[in-house]
Amino acid sequence: MKKTLLTLFMSSLLACFSLAGSVPAFAEEGVHLDKAPINISDKASLRRGAKIFAENCFSCHSAKFMRFNRIAKDLDMSKSDVRKMMIFTRDAKGAPTKIGAVMKVAMDAAYQKRAFGTTVPDLSVEARARGADWLYTYLRSFYIDPSRPTGANNAVFPKVGMPNILWKQQGLQKAVYKTIVQEDGVKANVIDHMEIVVPGNLNQVQFDKYTADLVNFMVYLAEPIQNVRRSMGWKVLGFLVILFVFAYMLKKEYWKDVHH
Ligand code: HEC
Repeated sequence: MKKTLLTLFMSSLLACFSLAGSVPAFAEEGVHLDKAPINISDKASLRRGAKIFAENCFSCHSAKFMRFNRIAKDLDMSKSDVRKMMIFTRDAKGAPTKIGAVMKVAMDAAYQKRAFGTTVPDLSVEARARGADWLYTYLRSFYIDPSRPTGANNAVFPKVGMPNILWKQQGLQKAVYKTIVQEDGVKANVIDHMEIVVPGNLNQVQFDKYTADLVNFMVYLAEPIQNVRRSMGWKVLGFLVILFVFAYMLKKEYWKDVHH
């Protein structure tokens, strides 16, 4: 009897932990991904990230699963602050987009195709699709490549259609190559590291922090309920512990006479 109760308790614990499962990340083979130094419960970082997203990404990318007023609520901001920070569009009648609206962009798909040769993907769940480390590495891996229409290429997303948006902050960097001998004996040139050739407004430490805030915000975008879920997880665990104590006491009470 005691054993059954314990097994039950342990399996509920396991179930709780697996519910809090992690985000799958996939990467092109052979590309090293840097670990994104993010903390989803750091609201100051999320607010900075929201501002960076609004100023640099939201002109092209939508985040249609998110509403402005939800950002206000989740990130402890006033509605008017969110309005000032992120709402630049107007609705069909010419009035400023409402705070309860979803994060759509004004640019239409046909224009996107003409300008970038592809439509611009919605970024609502991007962090879940690619993983935080991929995003963090991607945003720091644009390099000069005159053969590309935008003048830039990307180490983790070769031939990307997106221009190097954060060059003013990061500066311009070039790829430095090394020659490796592949398994089949054929030599290949691969990117070894990057070198800044035109400095940006931020130094490398500052730029890493800047992109980390942005990625943090995108991780929140992809799963806004995360913070709530974590605290709920602890409450559920606490409840199970208390339940276990009572169940054990009850069991002792029932079996008291049998053992004697
Ligand atoms: C000038 C328009 C433009 C801006 C501004 C822009 N992007 Fe992009 N982005 C694109 C286009 C176009 C693509 C599609 C590239 C492709 O498929 O080749 C893209 C692709 C991406 C992808 C990869 C999507 C995938 O396939 O998984 C990510 C991530 C991304 N952008 C993030 C950002 C972030 C973060 C910002 C703000 C710092 C930003 N973008 C700003 C145009 C833009």
